Amino acid sequence: MKINFLSKATFVLLVFLFLSNCLNIGAEKCHPSGRVKGGKIPSGQCNEEGDLCCVPGKIYPTYTCSPPVSSHTKAYLTLNSFEKGGDGDSPSKCDNQYHSDYTPVVALSSGWFNHRSMCLHNITISGNGRSVVAMVVDECDSSKGCDKHGGYQPPCANNIVDASMAVWKALGIPMTQWGGMDITWSHA
Ligand SMILES: *[C@@H]1O[C@H](CO)[C@@H](O)[C@H](O)[C@H]1NC(C)=O
Repeated sequence: MKINFLSKATFVLLVFLFLSNCLNIGAEKCHPSGRVKGGKIPSGQCNEEGDLCCVPGKIYPTYTCSPPVSSHTKAYLTLNSFEKGGDGDSPSKCDNQYHSDYTPVVALSSGWFNHRSMCLHNITISGNGRSVVAMVVDECDSSKGCDKHGGYQPPCANNIVDASMAVWKALGIPMTQWGGMDITWSHA
C-alpha cells in the first residue's frame, strides 16, 4: 500500500513537472505579433541601399518580442550605416544624432530594444573568436514595415543586431563578408 501511494505521488509529481516545464518553454517562445503585406511601391520610393524592399503581395511577420536575453544571446549581425545619408537616413532614435561608421554602434530588434530601455547601454558582441563593445543607439523595428515611413523595408527580424562598419572591423571580418553573420551578445 505504502509503495503504491509513493509511486502515485511520484507519478503526480512527474506529471506536474512535465506540464510546468512545457508551460515555461511556451512562455519563452517569441511568437509573431501580426503581419504586414507588401503593397505597390510608388516609383522611386524604394530605397534599395540596404535590404531589398517589400515584395508586393508577400506577407511578412511582425514581432514585438525577441528571444530571451542570456549571457550569450544568439543573434544575427547585419550591417548598417548610422551616418547622415546612411541606410535609414534619419538620426538614431536614442539620441537624435548621426553616428560615424567608425564608431561601434548598433540597432536592436524591437523586443531587445524594449521601448528604449536599452538606449545608450553597451553590449558585448562576440563572433569570429573576438568581441567588441558597442553602444545601442537605435531600434531595428520588427513591429512594423512595408510602409512609406520605413522606406518600404520589411519588418526587422526579432533577433537582429544591426551594426556599424566599426563592429564588423573589430570582429576581424573581411570586408567581402560584411552583411550577415551569427553572433552572440550580452550586456557589457
Ligand atoms: C557606453 O560606452 C560609451 C563609450 O565608451 C560611454 O560613453 C557610455 O557612458 C556607456 N554607456 C553606459 C550606459 O555605460
